[in-house]
Amino acid sequence: MLILEVHHLQKSYWEKGQALQAVRDLSLRVSAGEILAFLGPNGAGKTTSIKMMAGLVMPDSGWVRIGGRNPHQQPEALRLLGAVLEGNRNIYWRLTCRENLEYFGVLRGLSARQASQRAELLLERFELTQKRQTIVQSLSRGMQQKLAIAVALMHQPPLLLLDEPTLGLDVEATESVKRLIREIATEGCAIVLTTHQLAIAEELSNRVAIMHRGEVLLEEPTDALIQQFSTGSYRIEMSDTIDAPRCSKLERLGVVVEGDRQLFVADPGQLYEALAILKPLPLLRIETDQATLKEVFLTLVRQNQDSIKLN
Ligand SMILES: Nc1ncnc2c1ncn2[C@@H]1O[C@H](COP(=O)(O)OP(=O)(O)OP(=O)(O)O)[C@@H](O)[C@H]1O
Ligand SMILES: [Mg+2]
Repeated sequence: MLILEVHHLQKSYWEKGQALQAVRDLSLRVSAGEILAFLGPNGAGKTTSIKMMAGLVMPDSGWVRIGGRNPHQQPEALRLLGAVLEGNRNIYWRLTCRENLEYFGVLRGLSARQASQRAELLLERFELTQKRQTIVQSLSRGMQQKLAIAVALMHQPPLLLLDEPTLGLDVEATESVKRLIREIATEGCAIVLTTHQLAIAEELSNRVAIMHRGEVLLEEPTDALIQQFSTGSYRIEMSDTIDAPRCSKLERLGVVVEGDRQLFVADPGQLYEALAILKPLPLLRIETDQATLKEVFLTLVRQNQDSIKLN
């Protein structure tokens, strides 16, 4: 089911009498249960786009629909989304965890009773029960981040917008936020996630959109994108050194021997021939030479920079 539709959004800011095109042309669609990683270098226009999706910044042109409703014209559309922007600005620092949850729950249409029940549920789920009476200011950054996400989920919105949700978190807090994001998506929420931590984007997302200078360079399923940039070759690592006669046989086959324990089989069809030569030497590991999202991202952004320079 389609939840978010973004159609040719544009936004310029005026700076010192000059127009700066923060978002030139953005179109996206996100369905229930899907996690879209919305990536791009600093200044690409991600936060501006997220703010337009959340109804906080008015686009110069184009439109947004959340569950078929336009957040810039139909206020009820705002009930269908939860947003956590940079710097946890969706929570009050002087209120306790519980007060924040209840306040924002009621603000988005829950009764006081519903808000109280849901707050307890979320406190438990986000491992904040112990801190329910603590004011936000005294929470650790990871706890604040988890609370910010919990607040955004109080009214069970079908769409969650997350702008750098793991920024500055330690390993454990990052793992816990990742787990929660995954669970929320499994429950059917559509999620748009911006992050500079590309390994996290790779792990969590079903699809990736890469933005550069206000435009989407590419939008594809994460697996397909990584596959496209992967060579399909194999890397073999042995536990022991490979003897000279075997090395020369392998090299005649076209296999590259690196050091005395590693092999690189560029033609996947030759894997079993290479293994036959190696038999019975003990293997340590065989892996396909997979690209990472980080490599794909850097390649695309650099290509785009080069093409801008050439024009
Ligand atoms: N309120 C504003 N007034 C003027 N210019 C702005 C405003 N907000 C953003 N910009 C400009 O728009 C461009 C895009 O900024 P944006 O914050 O959307 O980028 P981003 O992709 O979120 O970057 P980052 O990865 O650093 O968070 C930048 O050049 C920025 O300076
Ligand atoms: Mg940003």
